[in-house]
Amino acid sequence: MKKYLVVLLLVMALAIPSAALAQVRIGVAMPTQSLQRWNQDGANMKMMLEAAGYVVDLQYANNDVALQVAQIENMILNGADILVISAIDGSSLGTVLAIAKEEGIPVIAYDRLIMETDAVSYYATFDNYKVGQLQGEYLVQALGLETLEGSVNMEIVAGSPDDNNARYFYQGAIDVLMPYIESGKVRVPSGQIAFEAVATLAWSSERAQARMDNLIASNYSDGTPLHAVLCSNDSTALGVTNSLVGAGFEKMPYITGQDCDIANTKNIIAGLQSMSIFKDTRTLAARVVQMIESIVKGEEPEVNDTTTYFNGVFVVPTYLCTPVFADINNYKELLIDSGYYTPEQLGL
Ligand code: BGC
Repeated sequence: MKKYLVVLLLVMALAIPSAALAQVRIGVAMPTQSLQRWNQDGANMKMMLEAAGYVVDLQYANNDVALQVAQIENMILNGADILVISAIDGSSLGTVLAIAKEEGIPVIAYDRLIMETDAVSYYATFDNYKVGQLQGEYLVQALGLETLEGSVNMEIVAGSPDDNNARYFYQGAIDVLMPYIESGKVRVPSGQIAFEAVATLAWSSERAQARMDNLIASNYSDGTPLHAVLCSNDSTALGVTNSLVGAGFEKMPYITGQDCDIANTKNIIAGLQSMSIFKDTRTLAARVVQMIESIVKGEEPEVNDTTTYFNGVFVVPTYLCTPVFADINNYKELLIDSGYYTPEQLGL
């Protein structure tokens, strides 16, 4: 019988009030501490789960796939009742999750879908396609594409090919921008448009910076203007910004991002980055805690999407939270008034 059910039956049989839930162990596997958002995700979840009486085993894997697999194995060995996993490589967890399935351990994919396995039970994330759409729509508006006569130059920097989200972000933005690329209003001087050509392994700032250095050298060193860089997230936007600043660009192009990391929010305030997508990690963590509460009570967790996220084996029941865009005009309200950051953290 599933372990969490045994726990639940014990709780009911002994008629012990909810304090007994303290015995329920939740393993939380996060990809890396090198990006601010995952530190916040992990910390929020640990805090909320502990406040609800669970025992939490939170691990970060330094973007090392083998280490993440080992951490999940250990969580199972140490008696995890439920696993929450944000995968480094969505397709590399099949073997270890087969063990979880055998043990009857429910698995919640956190933010990133876990691919090619039937051992994932639920998925909680922000609407990834919508993230890309918001970035694309922002550029359409900022560049005035609807009424533009003539053309503008844009480059594209997408996310990591081993992260299922990266293609959704890319596709959401490209679906908005492609009509303008096809009509010639948006030119991509490098010619690099396909996802494979613009992806950034491990979402690395350094790789994004090195690629932007090359793009500048090959396409813009003669003074060709660059009007926009569609960046899928903040770590890639940071690399691109550093490259442009290093190359002495005086007028920065419109640069998109995602996560509202502190360094990038500071860049928005300084006029170096145009926008970011705000995905409040408190909302996602709270949603996952709610899913866990339902599972422990033997109820079906609430989902709001049962058609989109096919993981190669089945369509994983998903809860999509809503992303919003942040820029110089609304960052105070979104990020400071909501208590996400203090003014001091943003250097204000
Ligand atoms: C997340 C983004 C994040 C990126 C890099 C994606 O899976 O959804 O918020 O910027 O990974 O860590």
